[in-house]
Amino acid sequence: MRVLLCGLFASLLFSQAPGPQLPDIKYARRAPDQPLPFSHKQHAGTNGTPCKQCHPMPDPGDFMELPATSVCMGCHTAIKTDSPHIKALTAAHAESRKIEWKPVYKIPDYVFFNHKKHNALAGVNCESCHGPVKEREVMRREKEISMQACMDCHRQMQAKNDCRFCHDPR
Ligand code: HEC
Ligand code: HEC
Ligand code: HEC
Ligand code: HEC
Ligand code: HEC
Repeated sequence: MRVLLCGLFASLLFSQAPGPQLPDIKYARRAPDQPLPFSHKQHAGTNGTPCKQCHPMPDPGDFMELPATSVCMGCHTAIKTDSPHIKALTAAHAESRKIEWKPVYKIPDYVFFNHKKHNALAGVNCESCHGPVKEREVMRREKEISMQACMDCHRQMQAKNDCRFCHDPR
């Protein structure tokens, strides 16, 4: 019984302890002004659409993509068609125009980063580096993506930290 209780307690503790993740950013950043009021809370939360349906990760997995307007039109040919925002989306789709989303997370081009390798790590998921996206009405940078933050997680997970591992000599 005692062992069982201890086990239960430990599993409770562990299920609450976050896995390795980037630290929260110290000074809140303003969300960039996006061309449309897109809400992850509505789409990934309420609708329950999986991240990868809108963010494919083509090989070798260096970048995640943003959704093409055709993904949106799977629903918005019928949903909320009277909204001026959906009218703008529909017009962009009809004219094969991309929506010019502003980047939220961005590291300089000289830094190597691979989504696929990181997402494959035990205990690491999108939330580890981007926060509770499904609860967010608007996306803003809420996790630190500084060199220090990357190196701290590498230290914690015993990954390499020599300078050339992440970028060419500066
Ligand atoms: C699975 C279906 C689905 C897909 C796919 C989808 N949406 Fe939506 N979207 C919804 C629903 C449901 C709402 C909420 C409608 C309401 O408030 O009645 C919504 C609301 C919106 C709104 C708010 C409209 C307003 O004026 O209130 C915007 C903007 C929007 N979606 C943009 C997009 C974009 C951009 C994409 C593609 C990246 C997309 N949606 C993909 C279902 C979808
Ligand atoms: C219905 C489509 C849709 C779904 C589902 C969706 N996203 Fe997004 N995502 C978008 C769009 C559109 C943008 C660009 C607008 C914005 O930043 O809000 C975006 C932006 C982002 C960004 C910021 C990208 C940058 O420029 O730095 C991150 C991070 C992100 N999504 C993570 C997620 C995660 C994690 C999930 C699953 C929990 C998810 N998304 C589910 C459509 C989607
Ligand atoms: C280990 C941390 C980490 C994890 C885990 C992670 N991301 Fe990212 N994400 C980043 C960093 C760093 C960037 C900026 C990359 C750049 O500028 O090249 C980024 C950028 C993005 C972007 C903008 C497009 C791009 O590739 O630059 C999207 C969309 C995104 N992430 C979605 C996701 C989704 C969805 C998941 C889960 C499947 C996820 N991320 C998991 C760290 C992470
Ligand atoms: C959640 C902890 C964590 C975070 C956060 C993280 N890393 Fe990593 N990273 C790792 C681990 C663990 C490995 C080793 C993976 C392996 O050996 O397959 C790794 C591997 C790498 C690699 C080598 C990938 C390859 O192609 O072999 C690079 C480059 C890298 N990380 C850069 C970064 C940068 C830049 C950031 C910050 C924007 C970052 N990492 C944030 C844990 C993390
Ligand atoms: C785990 C990945 C990682 C490792 C290891 C790493 N860096 Fe970085 N480095 C980064 C990232 C990410 C940035 C971009 C930070 C930003 O723009 O906020 C960066 C930026 C820099 C810059 C530019 C800073 C600036 O303000 O222009 C210099 C210089 C630098 N690194 C030197 C080093 C040296 C020296 C080492 C070895 C001791 C090292 N880095 C190891 C990830 C790493």
